[in-house]
Parts: sequence; C-alpha cells; structure tokens
Amino acid sequence: MKTKITQSPTIAARFIEHGEVVAFPTETVYGLGANVFNEDAIRKIFAAKGRPTDNPLIAHIAELSQLDQLVQEIPPAAQKLIEAFFPGPLTLVLPKHKTISLLATAGLQTIGVRMPSHPIARQFLRACGVPLVAPSANLSGRPSPTTWQAVRDDLFGRIACILQGDQTKVGLESTVVDCTGRVPQILRAGGVTLEQLRTVLPETEIADAQDASAPKSPGQKYRHYAPQAKVVLTHFPQFTVPANESAYIGLHEPPQPAMFDKVMICRDAEQYAHALFQFFRECDELGVKTIFCQAVGEEGMGLALMDRLRRAAHG
Ligand code: TXA
Ligand code: MG
Repeated sequence: MKTKITQSPTIAARFIEHGEVVAFPTETVYGLGANVFNEDAIRKIFAAKGRPTDNPLIAHIAELSQLDQLVQEIPPAAQKLIEAFFPGPLTLVLPKHKTISLLATAGLQTIGVRMPSHPIARQFLRACGVPLVAPSANLSGRPSPTTWQAVRDDLFGRIACILQGDQTKVGLESTVVDCTGRVPQILRAGGVTLEQLRTVLPETEIADAQDASAPKSPGQKYRHYAPQAKVVLTHFPQFTVPANESAYIGLHEPPQPAMFDKVMICRDAEQYAHALFQFFRECDELGVKTIFCQAVGEEGMGLALMDRLRRAAHG
C-alpha cells in the first residue's frame, strides 16, 4: 500500500472518509485512527498493527457534544473529570452506546473516550467530523511512537496516511480511568497523575491487576513498550557497570558514563517520560544490547514512567 505523508489535516481526513486508517499526532503519543462507525476501517487498525483483537480501542473526540454518540451515560464522577481534564491526556472508561461496534471495544460493554488537546489532533478530528478509535500507532509490542518518523518506521506501506506533527509533548500514553464502578480506578497510569485526579476525586484508586473481580484494562496483559535491547532497571546509587554495547537513561549521571555508547540525563520525571520511547528506538537503531534505566520515585509522572519501565524490563 502507498502511504501518503502530509501536514494537512484536511487531506488526512479525506482518507478517513474513504474508510482508511490514518496516523496522527496527539499530546501523548501518535495514534492510528479509524472512523468509529466503520467496522471495515476498524479491522484495518488491528491488521496494520498486528494487534490482538481482544484489546479494546480508545475513541477520540474533538467536541464534548460527540460524547452522546459514544456513551450511554456519564456518571457524576466522570462529569467532574471531564470538566477538569478534557481536553488532555486522560481516557475515561464509560458504558458504551448501543450503536458502538463490539469490534472497537473488543466485546466489552464499555468504551474508553478521550479528547486530545493537541492542536493538530483537534483540527484533524474536526475535519473528520466523526469520533476516531485510535490505539498507539506502533506495531504491536513496539514502543509507542512519539515522532512521525517512528510511525513511518513501523507502519510505512501498511497504512494509507501519516499526518505529520512534532515530537509529542508527554511521551507516554494517556491515563485510563474506569468510571463504571463504585470508585474511579486507574487502569493505566499516564499523562494525568494520580495526585491531579485526587484533587478532583479524592477517592480515586489504582486498580489491582491481581484482583479478578476488578474491571481490568485488557491491554495491560500484553508485552508492551519494549525495545529489542534488554532493559535493566537500576536503583541509584547501586549500579552494575555495563559490559559492552550499553546505553543509560536516568536522572543521575551513571558511575562511568564513558562506558556507555549512549547516555541521556533527564532534568525530572517529565523530561524522562518525554524522552523514553524515542530513546528506546534510537538504541535499537544503534544496535545497543542493554539499556540501563534508572528507577524513579512513583509520585507525579513517576508512577506512569515506572509502569512503562517495569513492563519494558520484564516483558
Ligand atoms: O495516549 C493514548 O491513550 C494513546 C493516544 C493515541 O490517544 N492511545 C493508546 O491506545 O495508548 P492503546 O490502544 O495503545 O492503549 C489503550 C489502552 C489499552 O491498555 C486498553 O486495554 C485500554 O486502554 N482500554 C481501552 N478501552 C478500554 C475499555 N473499554 N475498558 C478497559 N480498558 C480499555
Ligand atoms: Mg499501545
């Protein structure tokens, strides 16, 4: 398949109209979008990514008025989160509208909904005129793409169009919050922090992945975010000195920086999150064998960052 690469949201939207899938920038990571009401287009997402069909998709909207097409009801807790965090890196899991295909929700009666804040994403969604279901625009199992070049590397020839933008700001995916239960539960940590959510809803919990009775985020069972290199989580200041072809990313300088082929020192957890997936991809291009990643405290963005680091290390 020929892949059109464009800076024009209106050109990209034309591919959606024709039932194709389009990669587009958001403030978290690049997404791979399809018309939520077109089952053939949704099938193309799973095919292009090699994504298991039991992993549900997030629906993206440009306007709050589009929510009615997607969800059956908006519980009061969800309404508060919408007022506080939409548009932004937050996905709310809500009871789905009966017209939404079970293909999009992987058979669930709920749907994840998010309104991106990225200006190009919003222009594109407005030009499409329909909500778009969109997973991250990577091949399944690879790190989520934070640049359009990363999308091209994974999906060129497999999708109809890439809408170009800059490197994404957050660098990790949205926070997924289940709003269908007694209390809001974080199914996946992400761009909106637990502390931020609790300023609005103090009862917000982190879902227990082991709890069989709790609603889960099916995607969390899959290997994710992994570069080809082995990822080793290191706890400062204890640190093993690397053998060969190693890289390091963290907040503190490693003991012997000259021993590494590639080193990145980040100012804070936000910058670390912003850089991580791109760093993984650059390491793979260099043929790095082991990536040492410094562990961080699990407050603020540290919670989502440590989630991704653990998955990359243990995947
Ligand atoms: O930042 C993001 O969320 C990006 C951009 C493109 O918006 N999208 C993204 O999508 O990360 P994806 O498909 O890579 O991850 C979606 C996650 C998966 O873990 C999935 O299981 C969960 O959200 N999810 C989606 N719908 C759900 C539902 N109805 N119930 C529970 N979990 C759901
Ligand atoms: Mg993904």
